[in-house]
Amino acid sequence: MAKSLAVLTSGGDAPGMNAAVRAVVRAGIYNGFKVYGVYKGYNGLLNGDVKEMDLRSVSDILSRGGTVLYTARSKKFMQEEYQLKAAEYCRSLDIEGLVVIGGDGSFRGARALSKAGIPTVALPGTIDNDIACSDYTIGFDTAMNTAVEMIDKIRDTAQSHDRCSVVEVMGRHCGDIALHTGIAVGATSIIVPEIEYDLERDVIARIYEQKDTGKKHFIIIVAEGVGGVQDISHYIQHRTGIETRATILGHVQRGGSPSLRDRLIATDMGVAAVHLLAKGIGNRVIASQNGKIVDYDITEALEMPRVFDDRLYKVAMEVSI
Ligand code: F6P
Repeated sequence: MAKSLAVLTSGGDAPGMNAAVRAVVRAGIYNGFKVYGVYKGYNGLLNGDVKEMDLRSVSDILSRGGTVLYTARSKKFMQEEYQLKAAEYCRSLDIEGLVVIGGDGSFRGARALSKAGIPTVALPGTIDNDIACSDYTIGFDTAMNTAVEMIDKIRDTAQSHDRCSVVEVMGRHCGDIALHTGIAVGATSIIVPEIEYDLERDVIARIYEQKDTGKKHFIIIVAEGVGGVQDISHYIQHRTGIETRATILGHVQRGGSPSLRDRLIATDMGVAAVHLLAKGIGNRVIASQNGKIVDYDITEALEMPRVFDDRLYKVAMEVSI
């Protein structure tokens, strides 16, 4: 039987996952492998939901959002019994390497499969940019651009009514989407889970200071991990008398055609993953560090502490006055 690789997407989908799948399939075939697509994340390995991919099976997916392989957060796969079953299934197809595209939960599955004898390489695919070992995750750029487009529209209506808009952007434990989009839309305040906040100091006082210099409408960005946008809105209206509206952008940020940056990095990472597997190397995470593609041991990657960009936060605060 020909030597084989497989690829799956896992966890929350992110724009650019398709570009990564395409890169793995094409680079896999280029390097002499038979390549399988696994459907619905790790569940596909438990249910035998796989299909051999050919060069044309990944045509025209580069520009598509979502993931053509579908995705899932598999609870079952957290149990060793199922991890061993999945490894056995891989062996039955002569799969010598697997590429997993997803977030840190997916990395744990990749580590378990590597331990069970199937060399597995993980790619950081999540809009949150919350993978410590990589300064970039596939989907982050597109999600932020979507958020900026939406918040620009919100600003139009906030400006027309002299209102304040409190907007929640995605990011479960990570304020990167909030910080970057907050700067890009000129937010008055940016509230993120990494920095302790005080509504009086970080929102109300800033609104009053800006009001004194003639500003009449305000955008407050809140990361999902902080939440409570309705309460924050009511508080602002109550304290300032400015009509305030809350918006939760939600899953719109996960969809849409991936940006150039996401397509490019997903392709670069996908090919790097195949190159590692072609050398028989598994249990690695592909990452981007200062514009270079590098790789780390999965455990080492999972144990790295995530560092919030305090410098950029200060930049935002210095300009939003
Ligand atoms: O991890 C990506 C993410 O979009 C987070 O920002 C968000 O908290 C979560 O996924 C939402 O997950 P679900 O798809 O289960 O609603």
